[in-house]
Amino acid sequence: MRHRRRPTSGLIPRTQSAGMGRPCLGPHTVTHPNPIPIKTRSCGFHSPLLRSGQTQSQRGRVSTPTDISDWKERDDDRMKTHRFRLLVAMALLTIAVLSSRLFGGQQDDALETARLLAILLDSGRVTIAKHQDLINTPNQADKKFTPALFEQEVQAEFQRETGIALNALDGATVPAMAKPLLAQLLRDSIGTIQSYQPVLSLPAMRYKGLIPATFGTETAARFQKFSQIYLKQTAPAHLVRNLKNKPDDYETAAFGRFGSSSSPSGKHQIISELVDGGRSARLMLPLYYEQSCLACHGEPKGERDISGYAREGGKEGDLGGAISVMIPLK
Ligand code: HEC
Repeated sequence: MRHRRRPTSGLIPRTQSAGMGRPCLGPHTVTHPNPIPIKTRSCGFHSPLLRSGQTQSQRGRVSTPTDISDWKERDDDRMKTHRFRLLVAMALLTIAVLSSRLFGGQQDDALETARLLAILLDSGRVTIAKHQDLINTPNQADKKFTPALFEQEVQAEFQRETGIALNALDGATVPAMAKPLLAQLLRDSIGTIQSYQPVLSLPAMRYKGLIPATFGTETAARFQKFSQIYLKQTAPAHLVRNLKNKPDDYETAAFGRFGSSSSPSGKHQIISELVDGGRSARLMLPLYYEQSCLACHGEPKGERDISGYAREGGKEGDLGGAISVMIPLK
């Protein structure tokens, strides 16, 4: 705050106008010898209130009109510019803070959404694996593995893994962006099971093509039609059976980070991060071979399994693949 010597008219004694040495506390009232109370200031800080607070007659008394009002106007203008700049700076700062919060929130939501989608696709796979014998039973004329049965069990599996009830998504504490996507992925999962119903009821047919992997590949393809979100089941290059599931560079590198077999706590080890300078959220949920997988992916290596593919010679706990999700951020 600068002190400035103020021009004074003969009507105001110098001692009252300057107030030197006192702290600047803003407008205050001094008593004119007339005695008409007028507002003036004790220092060089000038508020527009000073002018608007005065009556026309007071203003007339304080100044020789040209000198003082010119000087005040210049000072007021400077003050206004100063305040305007301050306001603009504060507004910009607020926008920056809010947008970084919003964007940070969006990134967290995208990572959580990716995690939930991967777990839902995996829950479908697990449900198929659990009912593989029933699915493979020939002459399943009564269609026991029905879409309704699948729906009930996939929801139970997802709830066991996440604590979230898919049939009460509206009230669930999940990111808003996740809700329609989870609902859609559930519909697509049921759609895949629905599409297999005619095959399931065919007589004398053991391998019907409905296994965890075909469920995953087909459901991901259905979901892909609905959303911009990349959802895929993949495997390390030397294990890939279906070329549609070939890993991209990111996925190949991620397989290297998982290590080749699960640790006791490794089942839920997930890679989840922002990539591409924060423009995408990516997630990899690893899939390790369990005993039930080995009928097709285990020993003896090279021999054909029930689906006609050569077995990979995998062992229980080996890394068999992953569910991969990528969500683009605006
Ligand atoms: C009945 C045989 C069978 C069983 C059991 C089986 N798979 Fe597969 N798996 C396949 C076939 C066939 C494919 C290729 C599917 C396709 O054409 O899309 C495949 C594909 C995959 C893929 C996708 C990558 C690729 O190679 O295209 C992964 C990952 C995978 N299986 C993991 C597993 C795991 C983990 C289990 C146990 C939970 C398992 N599979 C159980 C037959 C089987």
